Amino acid sequence: MTSGSTQMAGTEFTNSNLDVLYSAEQIAARIAELGAQLTSDYAGKDLVLVGVLKGSCIFLADIMRVIDLPLTIDFMSVSSYKDGTSSSGDVEILKDLSNPIRDKHVVIVEDIVDTGLTLTRLIEILGSRGAASIKIATFLDKPEPRIKKELVVDYTGFVIPNKFVVGYGLDAAGRYRNLPFIAVVKDPSVA
Ligand code: IMP
Ligand code: MG
Repeated sequence: MTSGSTQMAGTEFTNSNLDVLYSAEQIAARIAELGAQLTSDYAGKDLVLVGVLKGSCIFLADIMRVIDLPLTIDFMSVSSYKDGTSSSGDVEILKDLSNPIRDKHVVIVEDIVDTGLTLTRLIEILGSRGAASIKIATFLDKPEPRIKKELVVDYTGFVIPNKFVVGYGLDAAGRYRNLPFIAVVKDPSVA
C-alpha cells in the first residue's frame, strides 16, 4: 500500500483490502429503526446523548437526527486500555463532559462494544454523577471477545462476528473512519 500522498484519487471507498459488511443503505435503514425506538423510549425525559470520541462521531450524528425529541449532546474521550494494561480494563479520561448529567437520562453512544471494558468503566465513572438513568447505544456489538459478560447493551445497530471492521467512524490506525459503509479488513497487516 502506498502512502496517502501517492495514492490515486477516488480509490479509498473501493479499496480491494475491504469487504463490505453493511452498506450505507442498510445502515440508514437500521438507524431509522433505532431512532424510532429511542424516540418512543425517551419521550418526556431529559435526554442527553454522550458520544465517545472519536469512533462514535458518525453514529451520533446520524442517530440524533432520527430521535424526534428535545435532547442535548456531549462528548467524552477516553484512552484505550489496549495500549497497556488490558487486564485492568482501566480507562483514562482524556476529555470529560462539558456539562453535569445530574438528573438527566444519559444514553452513551459508542461505535462498537468488543471486550466491554471501556463501557463498563465509563458507566462506573458516569454512574457516580447522579444521572437519572444511563443506557448504552452501540452501533456494532461484537459479543465474542466480551470479557465483561454482565454488561447490558440496550440499543444495538448490528451484531457482528469477531472480525476487525472499519468505516462509519471506526478506524484502523486512524484510517477509514470516513467510509460510508462498514467493512471487514481482509488483511490487517496491509496498511
Ligand atoms: P472494548 O469494548 O473496551 O474492547 O473496546 C471497544 C473499543 O475498541 C471501540 O470503541 C473501538 O475503538 C475499538 N474496537 C474494537 N473492535 C474494533 C474493530 O473491529 N474495529 C475498530 N475498532 C474496534
Ligand atoms: Mg471507541
